[in-house]
Amino acid sequence: MPSQKITLSVIKADVGSYTGHNRVHPALLEKAGESLEAAKTKKHIVDYYVGRCGDDIDLIMTHRHGVDSEAIHRLAWDTFMACTTVAKRLHLYGAGQDLLADAFAGNVKGMGPGVAEMEFVERPSEPIVVFMADKCSPGAWNFPLYRMFADPFTSAGLVIDPKMHEGFQFSVLDAKKDAIIVLKCPEELYDLLIFLGASNQFMITDVRRRADGEIAAAASTQKLSLIAGKYVGKDDPVMAVRCQAGLPAVGEVMEAFTFPHLVDGWMRGSHCGPLMPCAFDEANPTRFDGPPRVVAAGFQLADGQLVGPVDLFDDPSFDETRRKANEVAEYMRRHGPFQPHRLPLEEMEYTTLPQVMGRLKDRFKAGKR
Ligand code: F6R
Ligand code: MG
Ligand code: MG
Repeated sequence: MPSQKITLSVIKADVGSYTGHNRVHPALLEKAGESLEAAKTKKHIVDYYVGRCGDDIDLIMTHRHGVDSEAIHRLAWDTFMACTTVAKRLHLYGAGQDLLADAFAGNVKGMGPGVAEMEFVERPSEPIVVFMADKCSPGAWNFPLYRMFADPFTSAGLVIDPKMHEGFQFSVLDAKKDAIIVLKCPEELYDLLIFLGASNQFMITDVRRRADGEIAAAASTQKLSLIAGKYVGKDDPVMAVRCQAGLPAVGEVMEAFTFPHLVDGWMRGSHCGPLMPCAFDEANPTRFDGPPRVVAAGFQLADGQLVGPVDLFDDPSFDETRRKANEVAEYMRRHGPFQPHRLPLEEMEYTTLPQVMGRLKDRFKAGKR
């Protein structure tokens, strides 16, 4: 008996790109579409859309199996495997790079792909925005999620919509300790920010409305470097946000991206730079493999059917943000190998430090200061 509820699963992976890490080849998107179309025909999923940002494929699926469903995770894994076969045939760069295991083991979490999922009862009208990013890490969502759900200068609804006025609660993952804390805003706002500001370690996993516990947003938090113990690719996160009627309006959600904040993960996963919102066709990070990009796909759900997408950053009102992002990118680039553009030693995904230290350690003498 299918549940009343619908589940939205966004599962992403980089399984090969061209030229270098620039963008997904159309043949991979076609293969992913074929795989999900077959699942839809067999009624395993209700609907799907294959998105992409830079070199990442984003599988957006609706279904009735709930979150962490083995069937849905297997479908995503098999789809990425099929795309990897195509990537290998075309000698694309980094074919299969985010698939860290040899065989599927029940849930793609911990196996490389990033996952953002939520289950809810579909409202009579259900606007949803799916965000997909490239050349950045999961902590990139902390800043915009905070703005959408806790900052009254971004979301007017926090002040003047009776359904939002009680505020939202944030689940925050400590990625190093693998522990989650739930913090309620507005009263725990200052406690929340001590964690969110350290976005390399603490990441929002989901947001709920306090008045009734309704799920409002879910984000992927998988960090490939923590999974694999060494650099094997980037995390390039995804998230889904429900909007309107007692949740932030689409325009409040989009407003959170008008400031191109600095994120980790540019070039070799070892630099920080501004997150530039762009249209689907412009999500091709080229300069210094960047700057980092985010795209926004807007949908309406209709009994689980994904009506859309609308390319929400394809709007001149984001031109100024893009101009600022390019100006900041230039400013950051001028630092070359110096921090804070280059990440602190322990955060870099590429490093020569062990070799260099190994060779030079005897030349360090007790220093006179
Ligand atoms: C990949 C990425 C790129 C690569 C860089 C070096 O998503 O962010 O900046 O890290 O192009 O790649 P390799 O080591 O594969 O030559
Ligand atoms: Mg890549
Ligand atoms: Mg990527």
